[in-house]
Amino acid sequence: MADKVKIIKGFQDVVPPLSLAYSRLEDAARSVFERFGFQEIRLPVLERTELFARGIGEGTDIVEKEMYTFPDRRGRSLSLRPEGTASVVRAYVQSDLGKGEPARWYYRGPMFRYERPQKGRYRQFYQIGAEAIGLPGPGTDGEVVTMLDRFFKEAGVKGVRLEINSLGCGKCRPAYRAALIAYLEKRREDLCEDCARRMVRNPLRVLDCKVEGCRSAVKAAPLVLDFLDDDCREHFEGLKGDLDAAGVDYSVNPLIVRGLDYYTRTVFEALADDGLGSQNAVGAGGRYDGLVEEFGGPPTPAIGFAVGVERLAMLAGETALAPPRFFIIASGEKPREEGIRLLARLRDEGVSAAMLTDGAGKSFKAQMKAAARSGALEAIIIGEDEIKSGEYTVKNMKDGVQRKISGTSPEFFAGANNNPEEQG
Ligand code: HAM
Repeated sequence: MADKVKIIKGFQDVVPPLSLAYSRLEDAARSVFERFGFQEIRLPVLERTELFARGIGEGTDIVEKEMYTFPDRRGRSLSLRPEGTASVVRAYVQSDLGKGEPARWYYRGPMFRYERPQKGRYRQFYQIGAEAIGLPGPGTDGEVVTMLDRFFKEAGVKGVRLEINSLGCGKCRPAYRAALIAYLEKRREDLCEDCARRMVRNPLRVLDCKVEGCRSAVKAAPLVLDFLDDDCREHFEGLKGDLDAAGVDYSVNPLIVRGLDYYTRTVFEALADDGLGSQNAVGAGGRYDGLVEEFGGPPTPAIGFAVGVERLAMLAGETALAPPRFFIIASGEKPREEGIRLLARLRDEGVSAAMLTDGAGKSFKAQMKAAARSGALEAIIIGEDEIKSGEYTVKNMKDGVQRKISGTSPEFFAGANNNPEEQG
């Protein structure tokens, strides 16, 4: 046998039944997001490197060391997208709406980051994201966070808590930054190498460093919420009020800073309590009021989030395809033909059905065994007798009780309503 071709480290196949969990999450997202007025946008996976460098920020971990970047045949620097927000904003600016008109878009698909692979962290992973562009008020923030909460509920994801914070704006954040740098300078020796280096350029990142020394060093650090100006404070209070009114459970965590440079004001994270170890962030987002302008559009506010599908699928646990409603058993050439006809009709009518179509010559017993293995509720038995009488034998796979039903009976096509459990 030839050598097997290997997959790249950190990339993974999503094979059934796990892929089913992915589809379910995407279905729930579509259903909830559309109710909130969001429409799907499909984006390229490859962009000019400059887009991410300018959007996410030159000094961020993602841009500094996590992008898959390479020149194309003409020597242009391209990168596989590490996230979707920068592409959404580029697409918005290039679209007809890009004059500051509101847009509500969602997306899903693979993202790529050259991170150290571990449980819940991959180099190719899937996100589902949503972005609301064009409205500045806290009402939009409230809707977006509520939509995330309702997505978790509809997708059956339990044990996730929502934490919110405000990072202030271009007017009030500089004073906070200065206060934080002054505080950190006094504790420089306690910080890890990374934090000591980024302390001046990106002091907020020190607040969410996982290294123990940094965690205790920032315990008494000044908090951004104490530095918000009146407008930012009012915005944050407005968001909290709307979340309360919509019945969303959340808490305020003043240490959330996020690892991407584009955020202003509202930021939030969704964290799983158990089951995911250290990679427990299942989703995150925030407001980025400066990004549209950064990409050449008019000043346009925006807010959005993205969830990690791998992590959510791990929380969702086992998923399996529902067993077929019917399993058709046919012996002989004519019955097989009749069986194929019925199989096609059932499936056309939306009823799930199976049959050993490749089982030419397979004994009745072998087909019965396959029916039992499939988990079907009922077997439809078609033999020469059934062809003659025009009535099929229908056998309940649980209790073995058999009955005769006319081949043209509407009972076969009543789908879910035709559940033998509910009969009699
Ligand atoms: P992010 O926090 O970088 O934000 O990623 C969002 C989610 O993607 C994370 O919470 C996590 O569940 C998942 N994720 C990130 N990296 C990996 C990985 N290597 N393996 C598996 N899952 C991962 C963003 O991407 C922003 N674009 C969110 C946003 C949208 N902000 C505003 N709009």
